[in-house]
Amino acid sequence: MKKIVLLLAACAMAFALNAYPTINKVDKERAAKLVSQMTIDEKIDLISGKEDGFRTLAIPRLGIPSLRMADGPQGVRNINGKNIHSTFFPCGISAAASWNREAVHEMGAGIGSAAKAHGVQIMLGPGVNIYRSALCGRNFEYYGEDPYLASETAKNYILGMQEQGVMATIKHFALNQQEYDRHGVSSNADERTINEIYFATFRKAVEEAGVGAVMTSYNPINGVHAAENPWLVRENLRKWGFEGIVMTDWTSTYNSVDFIKGGVDLEMPKAYVATREKVRALLENGVVTEADLDEKCQEILQAFSAFGFLDADLSADPSAEDAALSQKRAYELALEGPVLLKNEDNILPLKPGKKNLIALMGPNANIMPCGGGSGYVQPEDGKGVTLYEGLKALGKNYPVEFLGGPNPEVLKKASVVIVAIGFDKLTETEGRDRVYGLDRLHNEAVEAAVKYNKNVIVVANSGGEFDITPWADQVKAIILDWYPGQEGGNALAALLTGKVAPSGRLPFTFWGKLGKNPAQKWYKSAQLHPSGNRDRYPFTEYGEGIFLGYRGAEHFGVKPLYPFGYGLTYTTFDYSGLKVVPAADGFDVTFTVTNKGGVSAKEVAQVYVSPVKPSVIRPVRELKGYDKKLVAKGKSVEYTIHLGPEAFSYYDVATHAWKVDKGEYKIQVGSSAEDIRLEASVTK
Ligand code: GLC
Repeated sequence: MKKIVLLLAACAMAFALNAYPTINKVDKERAAKLVSQMTIDEKIDLISGKEDGFRTLAIPRLGIPSLRMADGPQGVRNINGKNIHSTFFPCGISAAASWNREAVHEMGAGIGSAAKAHGVQIMLGPGVNIYRSALCGRNFEYYGEDPYLASETAKNYILGMQEQGVMATIKHFALNQQEYDRHGVSSNADERTINEIYFATFRKAVEEAGVGAVMTSYNPINGVHAAENPWLVRENLRKWGFEGIVMTDWTSTYNSVDFIKGGVDLEMPKAYVATREKVRALLENGVVTEADLDEKCQEILQAFSAFGFLDADLSADPSAEDAALSQKRAYELALEGPVLLKNEDNILPLKPGKKNLIALMGPNANIMPCGGGSGYVQPEDGKGVTLYEGLKALGKNYPVEFLGGPNPEVLKKASVVIVAIGFDKLTETEGRDRVYGLDRLHNEAVEAAVKYNKNVIVVANSGGEFDITPWADQVKAIILDWYPGQEGGNALAALLTGKVAPSGRLPFTFWGKLGKNPAQKWYKSAQLHPSGNRDRYPFTEYGEGIFLGYRGAEHFGVKPLYPFGYGLTYTTFDYSGLKVVPAADGFDVTFTVTNKGGVSAKEVAQVYVSPVKPSVIRPVRELKGYDKKLVAKGKSVEYTIHLGPEAFSYYDVATHAWKVDKGEYKIQVGSSAEDIRLEASVTK
């Protein structure tokens, strides 16, 4: 009897451990055995993409299936080379602006279940490149300027997805902060900046989420292309303990030997430098060896083993996705991300009443906004819920009239005018940087509204900051709605009417003018090498170093229009009772947040660490903890946030390692990087 009990217990443990696939469950022996049975041609063919460019090689005689991949970070975009309809979640910057780990975890789970429903094993997301300038065409896919917020968002997205048995691919590794000439402009930065700002999100995904795959970026890093960069992949990524697949971005390889020796496993979307002909020639003259191929095949197959892909039925399973649950997940995340920048005279929430006409206008009022490129996803029903449809669905208590143009008699009699403007897939997209200003028609729509009505509310779709100076002082409210996905119209309608109070917070610093961003002067999309030699890469120098975003605002003494972590809601909060208590590996920070108003709302409490007398130059303060909780009207809620050793560390270039200096640190608790409410001192 006892033996049976023990056997059952072992099975239960085994199931529990394997219930959640993570790259830490690789079966190295099984992979090595398969590699030993492969022919040279099979090894060459396994290290590059196949078929429509989103598949890996099948080797049926060895039971190795072809795995299917799909874009993109906010939904399943493509199958067999065709774009499909699937659940279209809010974009990355909206997920980051939610500051809601649970909601992002649900997004990952939702995309993972959709992937299984479509027979996809490897999703090409999350995209996590740090926001350096508003001009980057792909900021909308990513998670903002701060490494801690970005890494917590990525970690929860990956955990949610991989719990569904689908491998996540964190991208683009690394320093891919611009789209302008993304193949050619080298991102040049120092080692400390790279580790403290640009590697952090990838490293946490490896160390704390067990991400299954990493995609290298297009750009050179300090002059060496990421897809052929041993310093990047072998000296860093692999040394963090990463045992999964490293794939290239699409068409980002240049040299057969550099690719094969550089540490990347999989050339995508197909073989350019790793063709049979080229590799065989290199094998014959001994420049590369079969062991080089074995290393790549081993890493690919052991990753497959960790996720059960060598044994499972990989065919599409429509029952894997509960469409209603996906819709709910998309809606709930769309509620969490929008950021209310301005709300003069408490014009929001909208007042109900059959006579309170809402005039709706602007180019984005009745479209499904999304950034362009591989992150563009078509909603499940092909159209999603636009803002106009979301407002219409509110019923007769919120009468809305959609204006194709500035109709004076309607604008004059309306109680409020909502103007929906911003970017979309043609003006904010992968493949090129965008401009800072909005298209003329968008600004003119706001100007027409303010001409006839004093109660104007601007709703804007974008992946980052843009120029609001033409009209910001003339409107009463501004809400950043990002690209909110297929449920965006319903979610925004709920926020505008106060059914739910806004709770998004800025995941980047909103400077107010492009040139106020200290990094902008170095961002110049490309500079010739000082020698002027055209044969050297043009490059962008990360001259601001670690002083990016709010770190730079303090360091360079520049006051932004709206700080990192800022966002309004329909009530106010008080902070009190800060206690910082020593814990096993650091400190537990507890405090109380009290809702002072008559509306229940969520508050994102942020914890910053500020070294008092650092031994090296450091940012004044850095975000090292946050939590978002619902605080009912008139009530108080206690928050507890843990600070481990990493909350106090900086990257020491002399030892190439993270270091915690002894000394005094301020623990600062607040509702934005500039709005610190409580402070205490601790000594390390
Ligand atoms: C693109 C993107 C990458 C995407 C891949 C496949 O160029 O950079 O994010 O996953 O190619 O579409």
